Amino acid sequence: MKSLKFDLNNMFSHAVGTKHGVTDKDLAVIAPAAKKALAHIGKLLSSEKNRVGIGLEWTRLPYQDKENITKLQKLGDEIAASYDNVISLGIGGSYLGLKAAQDALRSPYYNDFPDVRRGRPRVYFEGNNLDPDTLSVLIKNLDPKKTFLIIISKSGETAEPKAAFTVIEEWLRAGAGAAYGRQIMAITDPASGSLRMRVKEEQSRDPLSFRNLPVMKGVGGRFSELNVGLLLMAIAGINIQDVLDGGAAMLERCLKSRLDKNPALMYAALNTVLYRKKGKSIAVMMPFSETLKSTADWYVQLLAESLGKKYARKIKISEDGRETWCPDLRKVVNVGRTPIPARGTNDLHSIQQNNIEGENNKTVTFIRVENFKSDIELRGTGDFLSGHRYSELLSVAEEATEWALVRESKPNCTIVVPEVTPFSWGEMILFFEMATAYEGELLGINAYDQGGVEGYKNYMYYKLKKPGMAEGIVKEIRRNPLKKKSKYIISA
Ligand code: PA5
Repeated sequence: MKSLKFDLNNMFSHAVGTKHGVTDKDLAVIAPAAKKALAHIGKLLSSEKNRVGIGLEWTRLPYQDKENITKLQKLGDEIAASYDNVISLGIGGSYLGLKAAQDALRSPYYNDFPDVRRGRPRVYFEGNNLDPDTLSVLIKNLDPKKTFLIIISKSGETAEPKAAFTVIEEWLRAGAGAAYGRQIMAITDPASGSLRMRVKEEQSRDPLSFRNLPVMKGVGGRFSELNVGLLLMAIAGINIQDVLDGGAAMLERCLKSRLDKNPALMYAALNTVLYRKKGKSIAVMMPFSETLKSTADWYVQLLAESLGKKYARKIKISEDGRETWCPDLRKVVNVGRTPIPARGTNDLHSIQQNNIEGENNKTVTFIRVENFKSDIELRGTGDFLSGHRYSELLSVAEEATEWALVRESKPNCTIVVPEVTPFSWGEMILFFEMATAYEGELLGINAYDQGGVEGYKNYMYYKLKKPGMAEGIVKEIRRNPLKKKSKYIISA
């Protein structure tokens, strides 16, 4: 099986100059920190307590029990054979990876054509927004009797999926009859949270109702695709063992001790130099593939939530080697590169102008696919396009974009994917996850919490009068209302 290749040339000074590229000296300076990051991650991974406690248990997901995976694949087939539609509810880590897998590994226009779906159900994603228009259209047009529902929420309390679940559950109850709960799969925390409580209640009434799967302990939302996303992949007919095998193969590469053999460590080290020393604070992720666009969206969450942090990390180590991480409130760092998703060639007519001529404050990561599932030859156009294949044009466009960036001393790199398969997609997921873990180490922050996301959630809960809010949070919101002056609101 051909593995992913990483062409990092254009991040270096020989390609884009010493002001904007990484020099040999820069690399020598960061190498000890990279070595330390690798050693620290390695040490954490060797201890289950630390993996679970800190949130690195996702590194075990590629090695799930093969028999369970076969059972899950079968369950997916059974659900696929019984329903015309599947709705998957979830947001953030409970949505982006699923959408990424669906788009990358199933055919384009999957929902539109029965031949393309090969008898499998249509897949719809909801509960990832509070926009009433999409959900309304969906429930007006689907048949509840023929629809299977997956609700994914680790906490069970996230407003978007919780609201959508309330609506869809009601719709199922009204349209599918008393045993509607048998059409529901809940993927949630194994022990706690409101969704888990609900599952317990429903199962005590009818054990076939509200079937459920656990979000594994120590696996945070944005690192959970190879956990919470497997069932939907199985329903859509994707070989989930292949995805996991790809993840395992990449994990092995990303634990290699030599920096020049470890793609995730090298990618993290180069991006850290470019960010900290050369001012490249924006990370554009640009696959040259329409079907990998959602993978870029998934990466945006991974990078933004993992590395966008206010405080440095403080580590406490107990006598048995157990680590506890907490924010060092005396060290405000406000770090993290800002990710931007894009896709070639579409966005060459959009963000590319800024990439080329705008501020030199970004790195662009291209994903180039070497072999597509299909190809089209252009015949008889009588011009420069004649006789060329689409895949060839796309590849030339990617090379041309690299060239245009290099001409302007804009650092970039290319991940070469031999073909988008479950295996190579699994490789991609683990590569980006490991690179993010190393980047977190190099920045000295906790890549596994997301304190910043809580702010808006708390304010919403306060406005909606959610019971049980911590008094301190309520006081903080009351002390700091939004300041609105009418003179700055322009009405007609
Ligand atoms: O990465 C994370 O932990 C978050 O983005 C969560 O995935 C997101 O907030 C959804 O949370 P939950 O699954 O608890 O509904």
